[in-house]
Amino acid sequence: MMELEDHIERILWTEQQISERVSELASQISDDFNGSSSSFAVVGVATGAFIFLADIVRKIKLPVSVDLLRVESYGFGTESNGAPRISSDVKIDIKGKHVLLVEDIVDTGNTLTCVISHLASKGASSVSVCSFLDKPARRKVRIELVGEGKFYRGFECPDDFVVGYGMDYAELYRNLPYVGILKPELHK
Ligand code: PRP
Repeated sequence: MMELEDHIERILWTEQQISERVSELASQISDDFNGSSSSFAVVGVATGAFIFLADIVRKIKLPVSVDLLRVESYGFGTESNGAPRISSDVKIDIKGKHVLLVEDIVDTGNTLTCVISHLASKGASSVSVCSFLDKPARRKVRIELVGEGKFYRGFECPDDFVVGYGMDYAELYRNLPYVGILKPELHK
């Protein structure tokens, strides 16, 4: 049997390193949002953010509502088509809320730009971003936050095709507990 691990060229961040970094982010976020806790909402972008979202909210020591939305952009390839759209909206009322958007990775910035303007149009008081990975080499648009919004990131990611900890290739590898580079012969 071919193990999932055999598909990985190199591990970038281990489960332990991820856990430590998520704790640091959660403690910084808990400090920063302490004053706005009565109107604090964390919104994950499905599907990729689901593991990071679950990990970080359990380490945030404030009352917080948690929700998800879904954006369609990449299909089954590895390149953004540049025109993301909201295909499933949040359930909670965002108006007047301080929203922290949780993402697994920012590449071009197209997805976040779309989601941020969507939340702003719904009346969010501020929109911050917490992305587990940031791949600045691929950025095409500057991320404009809303109000007093802040940008948090777990790690800066090299310009390689990474999978694991929620991130997929063709809907596989999301369940890897670490982040690794996928062997080039396994993706196009
Ligand atoms: C990935 C990732 C971000 C987006 C980042 O989502 O989760 O949402 O791409 O890319 P961008 O900055 O170039 O827009 P994807 O569309 O692969 O869907 P998924 O979350 O279901 O994996």
